[in-house]
Amino acid sequence: MTEHFNYSLLPHNTFHIDARCRRYVEYDSEDELRKILPSLTHERFLHIGGGSNLLFLQDFPGTILHSAIRSVDIVKSDGDDVWVRVGAGLDWDQFVEYCIQHGLYGLENLSLIPGEVGASAVQNIGAYGVEAADLLTLVETIDVTTGEIESMRAEECQYGYRTSIFKNSLRGKRFVTHVTYKLSRRFVPRLDYAALRRELEARGLSEDVLTADDLRRVIIDVRREKLPEPSETGSAGSFFVNPVVNREHFERLLAAYPEMPHYLLPDGNVKIPAGWLIQQAGWRGRQVGRAGVWPKQALVLTNLGGATGKDILALSDAICTDVEKSFGIVLQPEVNFI
Ligand code: EPU
Repeated sequence: MTEHFNYSLLPHNTFHIDARCRRYVEYDSEDELRKILPSLTHERFLHIGGGSNLLFLQDFPGTILHSAIRSVDIVKSDGDDVWVRVGAGLDWDQFVEYCIQHGLYGLENLSLIPGEVGASAVQNIGAYGVEAADLLTLVETIDVTTGEIESMRAEECQYGYRTSIFKNSLRGKRFVTHVTYKLSRRFVPRLDYAALRRELEARGLSEDVLTADDLRRVIIDVRREKLPEPSETGSAGSFFVNPVVNREHFERLLAAYPEMPHYLLPDGNVKIPAGWLIQQAGWRGRQVGRAGVWPKQALVLTNLGGATGKDILALSDAICTDVEKSFGIVLQPEVNFI
């Protein structure tokens, strides 16, 4: 276990905000975590992963916890199906790479998503037509009050678009220690996403010759083309979630903007890309002080160097005001403000 006091969180948030916490604790096992739990009753605490979905608006006066549980084990096999149990503290993309290298398929489309395995189960990360909840089977947690291990089947985790029970009723009550993914020894590419199919066509990669390595490489290139490189430019990926409007609201918008991209949802509502709304509102590529809107993907707000969390928030507020004025849609952040 490592422990630091008055510790800079700069290496622990992808927005590169220089906030400090009173105490920072990294644990290597469930037993170590259990020993820390009693100290959390006196003060605020926050469990982080790779810090890729956080915006620190000020110093954090309590304890920040971080898991260093990074084991990967095959726990069951049945025909082509393989269940892999992985520690919450493993870097997500290292896990994806490990799986592909070991002939375990299913996670290719989720290549290069910043963050750690634990957050994949909390946040239901998703990209290019696949989300974590499609493949996840079990989430092992520790109850913050009792220290008991509570294993939850995926069906119990209330997964939805970028959400789960861990972001709602269990927020701050359970820490994820391990996640089990059901992968396959047979590679079946998921190519539902139109931009992905176009990219594969452009490279002359037809579905029958495509390997998981090829697909991973294409996903990585597509992400690098659109999104900032986390080590160079501070950001938290998508800053907002894509909003959902009802049919009537959608029809009104479509009449005014016939080219508006949209996805019809099974419940009759319609999801509209926030990036498109922000671009239409004139914000793509703009800057306010040390905060900016990424020129290639307006859904991503960036730290242009030395920004505070409040600088980023001011930009976010200005964007929300304009999007609401133009479209009657109130954007909701995907990023957690701390
Ligand atoms: N668009 C614009 N202008 C922009 C950005 C997007 O017009 O500045 C349009 C695009 O042309 C496209 C549509 O909006 O028609 C959707 O854009 P894109 O395919 O880039 O996806 P997204 O909906 O903006 C979501 C995820 C991303 C994920 C991509 C690919 C959310 C909040 N974001 O973005 O996730 O990589 O799909 O699957 O759902 C993340 O969560 O950090 C993240 C990057």
